Amino acid sequence: MNSAELTEEALARRFQRLGALLDAHAELWRPAPFHVPRPAWCAAHPGYAAHLLALGEAEVASLAGDNDALVDLAGRFLPELLQLRELSALPRLQELPEVPEESASRHMPGRKRAQIGAFAAGVGPVARPVLEWCAGKGHLGRHLARRWGVPVISLEWDGALCADGERLAGGVGQTFVHADALATASAGLLAGRHALALHACGDLHLALLRGAVEQAAPALDLAPCCYYRIATPDYLPLNPDANLRLSRDELHLAVTETVTAGVRERRERDRAQAWKLAFLEWRAARRVARDQTFKPVAAAWMAAGFAAWIERLAAREGFATDAAADWPAWEATGWHRLAEVRRLELARLAFRRPLEIWLALDRALFLARRGYRVRLAEFCARELTPRNILISARRMAAPIMDAPSEPEP
Ligand SMILES: C[S@@+](CC[C@H](N)C(=O)[O-])C[C@H]1O[C@@H](n2cnc3c(N)ncnc32)[C@H](O)[C@@H]1O
Repeated sequence: MNSAELTEEALARRFQRLGALLDAHAELWRPAPFHVPRPAWCAAHPGYAAHLLALGEAEVASLAGDNDALVDLAGRFLPELLQLRELSALPRLQELPEVPEESASRHMPGRKRAQIGAFAAGVGPVARPVLEWCAGKGHLGRHLARRWGVPVISLEWDGALCADGERLAGGVGQTFVHADALATASAGLLAGRHALALHACGDLHLALLRGAVEQAAPALDLAPCCYYRIATPDYLPLNPDANLRLSRDELHLAVTETVTAGVRERRERDRAQAWKLAFLEWRAARRVARDQTFKPVAAAWMAAGFAAWIERLAAREGFATDAAADWPAWEATGWHRLAEVRRLELARLAFRRPLEIWLALDRALFLARRGYRVRLAEFCARELTPRNILISARRMAAPIMDAPSEPEP
């Protein structure tokens, strides 16, 4: 057994311990400071809240991108949370990333190419026909078809991506199936095939897991993403002994890490958030609860400046505005709230990776309980993609039953 492989018992134990710890500290991560200016935990742990609120900009930015440092900081005020470090640590696969051939990869964006190289190295040798689930243009499948000489079926529901993928496939043994991964017939393709999914979203990868088990697929490698893309309002765990309940909104927390955003993108995102917070405060002054949702606002509305933006939004939401409103002051309120949100949110972010690991454990345990040997590891650094968890499952041979013994004469 290698270090990334976990027995069913080890997975179940970790799943239970992590779920219990997350549940016991839910007051720290369920309320979002965006909607709740002072979550109840601020009164229960005033030293922690004061420490976060006093952090400088550079410290906030560095902590927001460092999951281990976030847990260490939380552990200074709530020492039991230090267990999150051990419970959410995964081994990093040591294999050297494979570099997709230049000629095969010139149509892949650089980051995607590196992700595919690392993912393929994590998967290791591929000996069976492959089914690439939610394939996009099938870059991963194309690489594996060349690398291992196995036939690859790439399943994708966007016809334009299938057409591009077919063109790129050239002479390799890769065919595209233009189909919905959620359709029953798609699961039928998993029988006898090595299933691979790089960054398949919520329900799509859940359908893959269920389909692979039903069809007794011999092997499966999955890097999940967008856990919140599910049809139900609450997450339905795959294991009956799951001891944590999560709403679809809370699933968002597991994927809030955006290491790929550029400076301009971040500045724009901050401005949009500050303005929305200003609107929530302005609306709260009219006795509307801050957590009452409103429809998304078109980014283009921002071009006209804050006063025009908030007047337009207020009108859309059915509020009369006052000609004497001090919009610059409301905008300043929004920026002030944003500074607080970004600091108090750090307490929540400490749970982001542990929540994602709990979701991965739910998937891994589901497979282990259905006859698979399972590995759980990081296939690349989070800078390459924060969705870097690889769940690898290999079906164990069915146990050989002893022939019934003849009764003694
Ligand atoms: C995040 S992309 C990942 C693509 C590819 N695996 C990669 O890593 O480059 C998810 C893909 O799932 C496809 N998809 C979304 N819904 C689908 C469905 N119901 N059935 C099949 N594919 C779907 C999308 O069109 C998209 O290409």
